[in-house]
Amino acid sequence: PVGANSVIADGKSFVFETGMLPAELSVVVPTYNEAKNAPLIVAALSRALVGIRWEVVFVDDDSPDGTASHARALALGDPRVRVVHRYGRRGLASACVEGILATAAPYVAIMDGDMQHDETILPQMLDRLSKGDVDLVVGSRYVEGGGMGDWNKRRVAMSRFATMLANRLTKTAIGDPMSGFFMIARAPFMAALPGLSSIGFKILLDIAASSPTPLRVAEVPFTFRNRQHGESKLDGLVLWEYLQLLIDKAFGHIVPVRFISFALVGGSGVFVHFFVLTVTLETLLAINGASLEGRWFVIAQGAATLVATTTNFLLNNLLTYRDQRLKGAKLVWGWITFNLVCGFGFAANVGVASWLYQRHNYLIVSALAGIAVTTVWNYAMSSIFTWRK
Ligand code: GDD
Ligand code: MN
Repeated sequence: PVGANSVIADGKSFVFETGMLPAELSVVVPTYNEAKNAPLIVAALSRALVGIRWEVVFVDDDSPDGTASHARALALGDPRVRVVHRYGRRGLASACVEGILATAAPYVAIMDGDMQHDETILPQMLDRLSKGDVDLVVGSRYVEGGGMGDWNKRRVAMSRFATMLANRLTKTAIGDPMSGFFMIARAPFMAALPGLSSIGFKILLDIAASSPTPLRVAEVPFTFRNRQHGESKLDGLVLWEYLQLLIDKAFGHIVPVRFISFALVGGSGVFVHFFVLTVTLETLLAINGASLEGRWFVIAQGAATLVATTTNFLLNNLLTYRDQRLKGAKLVWGWITFNLVCGFGFAANVGVASWLYQRHNYLIVSALAGIAVTTVWNYAMSSIFTWRK
């Protein structure tokens, strides 16, 4: 058992030297461009966690500032520091999940890697959790004694609104379900694991909503500190990610949220198409007169298709596949494969729709069936050829 200085490994007993005892608390720290903060985190944890057997696991998504190698350098000087270096992927929630799964500690904390979370409340959280009557302890800005630091009004209001939505979604009444600072026992985390969406920022909300039984929660207040180094990675699209998480929690058992996003983007393409078609056709007619109208239509339709496919591609890259966004040469190559995929999808659309129409003569049903087939085809094929893992 953890806590003993001797355990059975491979049928033999193994005596730990001091300092080699397994951690009872693993602090998982997701990082993206936190090279300057990583050593501060280790130092802060060393001060705060005296008398506790702890480790810190940095989960870095191949940050351009080299956070991962900085963290590895720290690890060489301190065996309590560990690093999970992910490549070709992004995402705060999924980073936290993988960090937790990379540890064996019976208690895990999630804490930001930018010193905004107050590590000095960790011992209090661990005390509370190890009593065994709660599953989760949340570092909360909203309970008595907590606070926001100097956040601007807009962000405070947004956070409150998101909190209200979240409380309707989870069966747990967490005062601060959007907090990125909490500690959970392993068993309730493992129980929630199969249901996790792992989308976006809100890992705590995800865990609470995915837990098969309502979590028993305690909250410990803390005040959000200001950043000293680096900047926030929360951009305008976090709202979209949050929405995706809510949709996935509500409908994810029926259709994947990626598909919903893909279909919505496809719908936007229809508007783009008609817009470009009309503008191009009108322009061509204004310049050339109506004599060769058929030819102008072909050109306008072609331009509209190309533009709509391109906006669809870019929007899907931004929204639907945010966690594996293509950049640089891969973006160009992705655009080419996406056009090919959609080309075949278009042929399938026309094929299915005209086959149905010839047999049953229902115009709208045939057209919708064609669109449905194409959407599923484009989604499946682009996930294989364009945004392949
Ligand atoms: N591995 C990884 N991958 N880490 C990431 C990523 C990512 O894609 N994006 C952000 N991080 C890391 C940051 O480096 C930081 O350590 C931590 O996650 C939080 O990111 P910030 O960008 O500092 O977020 P914030 O301060 O704006 O938001 C915080 O407060 C919110 C409260 O409303 C976070 O704790 C949020 O989770 C929290 O909801
Ligand atoms: Mn932060």
